[in-house]
Amino acid sequence: MAERVVRLVEEDGPDTLPLARGHVLLRMLEVGVCGTDREIAGFAYGSAPPGTDRLVLGHEAVAEAVRTGEGVERVRPGDLVVPTVRRPCHRVECPACRAGRQDFCTTGEFIERGICGAGGFMTEFVVEEERYLVPVPPAVGELGALVEPLSITAKAFAQLDAILARLPWDHGRARGLVLGAGPIGVLTAMGLVARGARTVVFSREPDDDDRAQLVRSIGADYVSSASTDVHGLVRRAGRFDVIIEAVGVPEFAFQTVAALAPNGVFILTGVPAPRPAIGFDAAGLMRDLVLQNQVMLGTVNADRESYEQAARMLERFLVLFPDAVRRVITRRVALDEVPALLREPGGGVKTVIRIAEAGTATRDEGLPAPGRAAAP
Ligand code: BGC
Repeated sequence: MAERVVRLVEEDGPDTLPLARGHVLLRMLEVGVCGTDREIAGFAYGSAPPGTDRLVLGHEAVAEAVRTGEGVERVRPGDLVVPTVRRPCHRVECPACRAGRQDFCTTGEFIERGICGAGGFMTEFVVEEERYLVPVPPAVGELGALVEPLSITAKAFAQLDAILARLPWDHGRARGLVLGAGPIGVLTAMGLVARGARTVVFSREPDDDDRAQLVRSIGADYVSSASTDVHGLVRRAGRFDVIIEAVGVPEFAFQTVAALAPNGVFILTGVPAPRPAIGFDAAGLMRDLVLQNQVMLGTVNADRESYEQAARMLERFLVLFPDAVRRVITRRVALDEVPALLREPGGGVKTVIRIAEAGTATRDEGLPAPGRAAAP
C-alpha cells in the first residue's frame, strides 16, 4: 500500500514550462481549508491522479494569472481568478458533462481538483485552462478563497428559485433556517438576509459563542441546538419556507425536517463520511413530504454560473456586512503549517493558507522554482 502521510513536498513547479493553448499559469494567493480536506488528509475520501500516488490538496482558491498561453482571450496577467473544482467526465453518454454542467454528472466519473483524480491548489503555481477560471474583481480579492464555498450557497439558491417557480403567488417574506454556523452556514445566512429572508441559524455552539455573535451581527437570529431542540425552535421562530443544511450530520438534518413549513424546501449541502445507519421517523417524513408538498434535495456546487454568482454575492456582502464577512476568515497561516493544521484543526470559522501576495505577477521578472505543495 502507498505511504499514507500528509506533508509539504518540494517539487519542480510548472512555472517555467511552456503553456499549452488556452492554458494560464497561476500563482496561488490564498487557499481555504475545509472539512473535505481534513477527510482526505485522514484518508477517508479522495484519490490521487491516475498512475500516481500523490494528491496535492486544496480546492478553495484565489490566484493571480502570471502568463497566458496562445488562444487565451479574457484572462490577462495580473488578473485575479478563482479556479473551479470539478472537471467533466469523458463519457459521450453523459448529457450533463457534455453540456458543461458537470455538477449534474450522471456517470460519477468526474474529476475534482484537490479531491479526486487531479492535483489541487495548495501549491505555489498551477496551470489551468482558461474556461475553468472565474475572474473576480480586485475588491473581492482579500476574500477570494470564499468564492468556492459560497458557490455552494449560490447553487442552492438557484435550485431553490427553480422550485419556488412552481408556486403561482407572491411568496411574501420567506423564513429561512440554516443548519450549522461553519463558513458555509454563516455565508448562507448572509445570502438569505441579503435576499430579504427572516433568517435563523441553528447550530451546536452555545448562545454566547463568537459564531452566534457573528450571526446576530448580520441581522439573523441564532438558536443553539445545545439548549433548544427542534420543537423549541419551532415554538420560538415558527416553521421555515427553506432550510439549508450545512453540517453533514444526518441525525441533525433529519430531526430538523420537522421545522419545514408546508410547500417548504429542504436543501442538503453537507457530505457526511460513511457511518452506521441511523433510525428516524421515515413515515412522518414521507407523510409530510407528500401531504405538504415539501421538497428535499441535495446539491453540489460546480457550475461556472454559481461561482460567478458567488463572486457577485461577496461584493454585495462587503457592502451590507463589511465587518462580518471579513470575520468569516478567522486565521491566515503559511503553507508549511498545513500538515499540522490538518491534524489539529483548532478553532475559528475559516482558516486560509496565504501563499503569495497579489501583485507579484506583474512585478516579478523571473519566477522561483521549484514549487512547494501540500500533498498526502
Ligand atoms: C467541494 C465540492 C465537491 C465536494 C465533494 C466539497 O468540499 O466544495 O466542490 O464536489 O466537496 O467532493
